[in-house]
Amino acid sequence: MAPSHTDPTGPTELPDWALAQREHLEPAIVGRFGVHPSWCRPVGRVQVSIDPGPTFGHGSHPSTVLVLAELDQFGPEGRSVLDVGCGSGVLGICAAMAGAGSVVAVDVDPDAVAWTRFNAEANGVSLDASTAPVADLGGPFELVLANVLPSVHAELAADLVRLTADGGTLVASGVPEERADEVAVLYVAAGAGELVPEHRNRFDGWTALAFSKGGSKGGSKGGSKGSP
Ligand SMILES: C[S@@+](CC[C@H](N)C(=O)[O-])C[C@H]1O[C@@H](n2cnc3c(N)ncnc32)[C@H](O)[C@@H]1O
Repeated sequence: MAPSHTDPTGPTELPDWALAQREHLEPAIVGRFGVHPSWCRPVGRVQVSIDPGPTFGHGSHPSTVLVLAELDQFGPEGRSVLDVGCGSGVLGICAAMAGAGSVVAVDVDPDAVAWTRFNAEANGVSLDASTAPVADLGGPFELVLANVLPSVHAELAADLVRLTADGGTLVASGVPEERADEVAVLYVAAGAGELVPEHRNRFDGWTALAFSKGGSKGGSKGGSKGSP
């Protein structure tokens, strides 16, 4: 039977708010990626089915859209990708569906890890999802994606710089526009000269900041250069 928005079959029970939000969720298309709720018709070229359950990550939130645009520009084919704060797994699964060489996804919330695994399986891709603390991860990764609150960026910045491969790209999203300078400064400080601000993109009050590490960029095919 096809998945239903009224009769979820995911790995954990849904609270009332998570059940109620389901009838309002809609597909999103960002570059090559089409992210659709698992009970809707597929859209886009790389078609990714997501049931967010009780997690963040249905694909349409501006902070997620900004990262999907970066992922589309970067081109994850054959690259190693780290999805920090994976929520539903939407970013890591999109990377895997686009042919990433490997994807590691972490979240402090065990429910997020359960739904990430569930969604990865539903899309027929494999990734390594866990609640491993970022501080315990080994790397490096050619692309690090972090759609988290500014306070979490402050907590994780040094480790995310460490985990970004030389020549790789780090994308910091989840940043309200008015806090973008603050987050840029903390990553540049954490990078201690190794991290170069590449560009920042804004959408609907949110900002994503892209940085490259070391000499050459890790393969980004575009994006407007701008202030850090
Ligand atoms: C805004 S959601 C992003 C979900 C999804 N990646 C997306 O882009 O739609 C942020 C996620 O970060 C997780 N998180 C918060 N602090 C974290 C930390 N220190 N380490 C890993 N994940 C964290 C939260 O549990 C939440 O699932």
